Amino acid sequence: MSGGILEIANAKINLSLRIRGKRPDGYHLLESLVLFADAADRITCRNAEALSLDVTGPFAPALAGDEDNLILKAARIFAGALGREPALAFALEKNLPVASGIGGGSADAAAAIRAMIRLWGDPPGSIAGIAVQLGADVPVCVGKRPSMMWGIGEQTRDAGLLPDLDAVLVNPGVAVSTPAVFSRLKAPSVDGATPPAPLPHLATLDGLLDWLADNPNDLQAPAIEIAPVIGDVLETLEKSAGARLARMSGSGATCFALYGNPFDAAEAAADLARQHPGWWVTATRLRGGQ
Ligand code: C5P
Repeated sequence: MSGGILEIANAKINLSLRIRGKRPDGYHLLESLVLFADAADRITCRNAEALSLDVTGPFAPALAGDEDNLILKAARIFAGALGREPALAFALEKNLPVASGIGGGSADAAAAIRAMIRLWGDPPGSIAGIAVQLGADVPVCVGKRPSMMWGIGEQTRDAGLLPDLDAVLVNPGVAVSTPAVFSRLKAPSVDGATPPAPLPHLATLDGLLDWLADNPNDLQAPAIEIAPVIGDVLETLEKSAGARLARMSGSGATCFALYGNPFDAAEAAADLARQHPGWWVTATRLRGGQ
């Protein structure tokens, strides 16, 4: 990667995702508990003659020909807010699968915003206001903190201290369209969002698992209808030794399983990678903020 400022774009994992209703403009109101994983893309940014983006890494081919990458959009919007030209050279090491429910593009855009703040200083107005123009879950990715998000995703608050979680992430290599998944929901019409109830104290894995049992991902069933392989991934993860919970993140297709220790997670990841060489499999830790 080229030099300059380095920012880590950690994968966003939706531990829960409840749909509360649909706004007149078609967007859905949701409530989601979000943690960030050590698994990440890496972004560098430096002053240059003109705006450019160089993409490397295992998932670079999936972005080939993407003239409208969210990093470039972020640069144009951020520079515009400061009244300057977006003369920046970005390099992206794309380690995370694209269009996969772990916020890859959003995390990259958020990392670009953090890099530009370090390079140029704060923009006028709110950073969240700039972030939400790039996507509903970009604001939560800017902070990278364990968060409860609601509204269409633009409202966030600190989730308090959760345990660090040993996890395995699996993506079966199918890209699932987020609008297609949302459009299968039959959500009641609502006008505005109400903030979610405060989270109980979720300081242990057992306490968190109890809470998650009552707070599923409502997008999982419609995503499986579109891409049945997601159901196979979840079944395989559930059967892996030591798995305490298997669930899809975001609108899919990436799924995660939680384990009680890093050794079970590492062993499960090695077994899954052996059994399914076509799947992207990684053992990682989700940071609970402790
Ligand atoms: O904001 P983002 O680009 O992530 O959203 C992609 C699409 O997903 C939207 O155009 C919309 O169809 C759907 N969506 C939704 N409700 C949300 C977030 C996204 O209906 N809260």
